[in-house]
Amino acid sequence: MTSIFSPHATPAERVFRLSVLVLIICGAVFVVVATWITVAIIRFRRKPGDNAEPAQIYGSNQIEIAWTVIPVLIVVVLTTATARITSAVQDHQMPKDALEVTVIGHQYWWEFQYPALGIVTANELHIPANTTAEPRTTRLTLKTADVVHSFWVPELAGKTDLIPGQANQTWLDPSRPAVYLGNCAELCGIQHANMLLRVVVDSPEDFRAWVRHQQQPAAETAAPDDQMAFLSAPCIACHTIRGTSAAGVLGPDLTHLMSRSTLTARELANNRENLKNWIHDPQAMKKGSKMISFSLPQATEDQIVSYLTSLQ
Ligand code: CUA
Repeated sequence: MTSIFSPHATPAERVFRLSVLVLIICGAVFVVVATWITVAIIRFRRKPGDNAEPAQIYGSNQIEIAWTVIPVLIVVVLTTATARITSAVQDHQMPKDALEVTVIGHQYWWEFQYPALGIVTANELHIPANTTAEPRTTRLTLKTADVVHSFWVPELAGKTDLIPGQANQTWLDPSRPAVYLGNCAELCGIQHANMLLRVVVDSPEDFRAWVRHQQQPAAETAAPDDQMAFLSAPCIACHTIRGTSAAGVLGPDLTHLMSRSTLTARELANNRENLKNWIHDPQAMKKGSKMISFSLPQATEDQIVSYLTSLQ
């Protein structure tokens, strides 16, 4: 579920409280305006046989002042409340042991780098839960490889844009382990809607296990021929598989590809069949993606898929 009304981290909690305030104020404005319009329509409607012009009222100072001052006050309240929440989130004092993650937006997928841990992954961000026993905050530094994107996981934090030539920051401190969904929230091109985000909040133990696993070089369980098929294909120009000669940086890191549950930054299960279709004709599955078809022989595609599915 993606809803700002079920916050599970401090920044989202603050956004939620602000939203409630804004909704109450705007709701009250709506009720007052709608009531007066309804009263005016019913009470002052033209009655049968009444052809006289209604009373013309000009320049009532009291009314003019009231409907100028009240809206100005409302705007001032909304603006200061929003500015307060924004600066409270932005100026939050980061704990020294905060987990640092660099988020890089790409057309149309997410790259997550953990500089201190030597981990690079895509589309599914793993972070530790912020528990009483082990308090932990995650600080995200957001950059983009191309156009403006926006990082938005409604249950965890408000939107933060990823802007060319600039590094923005936000932070997450969810205490409940779960998978939180989000999406790119800035129109970034043809597949903007298929730029899903998954934030997997692990218990502290699960997170440590995940880190240990991700730090391993790629599994070597595949048949050498299958691996060779991949390493001789154009795939390596864009993809990295740690521990092999594949060191491209344009596409997602595939070192532990099968540890991710989805493919192509969409609601698409990461399994052999989908992977095969994706490699065979990426443009049919995600038109406008940078992944292209190389029209490889069927047998080579099968070998590549066998190799990739071995990368646990
Ligand atoms: Cu990236 Cu919209």
